[in-house]
Amino acid sequence: MEHPIILAIESSCDETSAAIIANGKVLNNIIASQEVHAKYGGVVPELASRAHQKNIVSTVHQALEAAHIKSESLDAIAFTAGPGLMGALLVGASFAKGMALALKKPLIEVNHMQAHILAHFIQTPGESKPEPSFPFLCLTISGGHTQLTLVKDFQTFEILGQTLDDAVGEAFDKAAKMLGLPYPGGPHIDKLAKTGNPKRFPFSKSDIPGLNFSFSGIKTSLLYFLRNHATDKNFVEQHLADICASYQDKLIAMLMEKTLQAAKQFKIAHIALAGGVAANAALRQRFTEEGKKHNWQTYIPAFEYCTDNAAMIAMAAHIKYQQGLFADLTTTPKANFQEF
Ligand code: KG4
Ligand code: ZN
Repeated sequence: MEHPIILAIESSCDETSAAIIANGKVLNNIIASQEVHAKYGGVVPELASRAHQKNIVSTVHQALEAAHIKSESLDAIAFTAGPGLMGALLVGASFAKGMALALKKPLIEVNHMQAHILAHFIQTPGESKPEPSFPFLCLTISGGHTQLTLVKDFQTFEILGQTLDDAVGEAFDKAAKMLGLPYPGGPHIDKLAKTGNPKRFPFSKSDIPGLNFSFSGIKTSLLYFLRNHATDKNFVEQHLADICASYQDKLIAMLMEKTLQAAKQFKIAHIALAGGVAANAALRQRFTEEGKKHNWQTYIPAFEYCTDNAAMIAMAAHIKYQQGLFADLTTTPKANFQEF
C-alpha cells in the first residue's frame, strides 16, 4: 500500500464522516447523516454530539474496511478541529486523539473552512480532474459561513469578505422553515425553485458596501411578505415554487455580485465555489454562465464534496502531512477556529 495513508474524521455539525486518503488519492468517504434534527427544524447541538458518539465507531470502521486497511497501517489520524459545534467537535477530536495515542501515530488537526476549499484538490484512484491554480478566489457558502477567500497557496488564505449576519445557508434554512419545509431547507428550496418563476416576487436584497454580505434583510423581506398574505390560507401552497424561485434568485444575485466585484478588484480569473450551498443547481448554473461571460476558469466540487464530508478533511490532512504540520495530543477543538 502506498504512503502516506491517513484516516480523517469530520464531526463539526450534523454529519459523522470518515475517509481514507492514500498517497493523495481519496479511497472512500463514508457519511452518516443525522436524521434526528429534522423534527426540530434545525441542528440541536446536544443531539448532534450524542449522534456523533453513536455513529463514530461504525463510520470509522466502515472507512477502514472499505479501503481494506488495518488501523496499524495508518500513517496519521486527522480530525476537524473547528469551526463548528463544540460538543460535536469534541467527539471527533477525542476519538482521533485516542486512536493516535493507542496506535502511536501522528495527529493532524484540520480547519473545516480550509478543508471546504481544498475539496477542489480531491482526486480519486484512476481519476485526474483539473485543479484550480493559485491564486484563486473561492466563494465558500455553508450553513455557518459565507466567505470570499483569496487562496494564495495551500496554506495562505486571505478572507476578502464575509457575512455580517446570517450565512447564506441559514438564509435558505430559515426561509424553508417559514414556508413549512423540512430541515435542512436548502435542497427543498432548490428543488421547488426549478418549477417556479424567479422574477415573480420582488424580494429586496441588501446593499452592503465592499465585499461583505448580509442576508438578514432578505429574510425579513420574506417574513413581511408572508405576513402580508397571511389572510389567504392557500397563498403559500399555491405559490410555493414561485416564492422559492424568487427568493433563491435574489440570494444567488447577491452572491454573484460580490464574486464579480472581488474578481475585478483582485484581477483573478480562477474562481471556485465550495460548501453545502454550492450544491444548489441554479447557483451552479448561474456561476458557470457568469464564468463564460467573464472568461473565468470556474471550479465546482462534485456534490458529495460540497456538503460536510471527511474526504475534504483527508485532502487538507494530506497537505499538512507533507508539510510536517502535526498537532500535539494536548490540542483541543476550537469552536471559532480562525487559523488555517
Ligand atoms: O457545508 P455544509 O454541509 O455544512 C456547514 O458547514 O454548514 O452546508 C450546509 C448548508 C445548509 O444550510 C443546507 O441547507 C445548504 O448547505 N444546502 C443547500 C443545498 N444543499 C445543501 N442550499 C441550497 N441548495 C442546495 N441544494
Ligand atoms: Zn461545512
